[in-house]
Amino acid sequence: MTSEMKEYNYSSLVSEIRDFVIEEAKTTTKIDSWFLPQHLMEVERFANVLCDKFPEADRDIVGLGVWFHDIGRLRGQDEGHDVYGAEEAKRVLDDKDFDSGKIEKVYAVCRSHRCKDVKPESLEAKILATADAMSHFTHSFYFRLFQFYKDELSFEEIKEKILTNNLASFYIHDLYETRFKLELLEKIFRVIKNKQIENKRIIDY
Ligand SMILES: [Fe+2]
Ligand SMILES: [Fe+2]
Repeated sequence: MTSEMKEYNYSSLVSEIRDFVIEEAKTTTKIDSWFLPQHLMEVERFANVLCDKFPEADRDIVGLGVWFHDIGRLRGQDEGHDVYGAEEAKRVLDDKDFDSGKIEKVYAVCRSHRCKDVKPESLEAKILATADAMSHFTHSFYFRLFQFYKDELSFEEIKEKILTNNLASFYIHDLYETRFKLELLEKIFRVIKNKQIENKRIIDY
């Protein structure tokens, strides 16, 4: 059991793949060090919250989606990493004689996680795509930005900075996504401003 092991009750195959991807994320030079703790781990945490909410979801399929969906990014395959992750999941799981019907489901979960050319259809795919998007809200970028400006700027002024100076694009590849989240970002800003939050994660509030 690794130090990152949580009480997620995966099957041993999923735990094995989880350990393998965590190790790869720690050693690869293709991603920054925040990607494991602030993205992959957060996606897993949200995915499990959603699995608790929707107990009919197959937790192993979601878990495999968590650990395969961005594996292309660990290998420098940013463009088309949804296809790469889906293919890699299929290759690895085929090798391990995983149930072929479930492999198809994991494939679809990885393939649709960006909600771009392929949309999530199964419950498991919807959970992963949602958890993936939710992880951006705990990213320290907004936390630090709001902390920094909370005493001198209003949310409207910060919003202008985000949108016109394109600050968010350093962290989120799609500015449209940021516009889509403005309402939630404003709520986060109000919480930080009103409660004078110092250094806890946004999600803890
Ligand atoms: Fe991704
Ligand atoms: Fe992701």
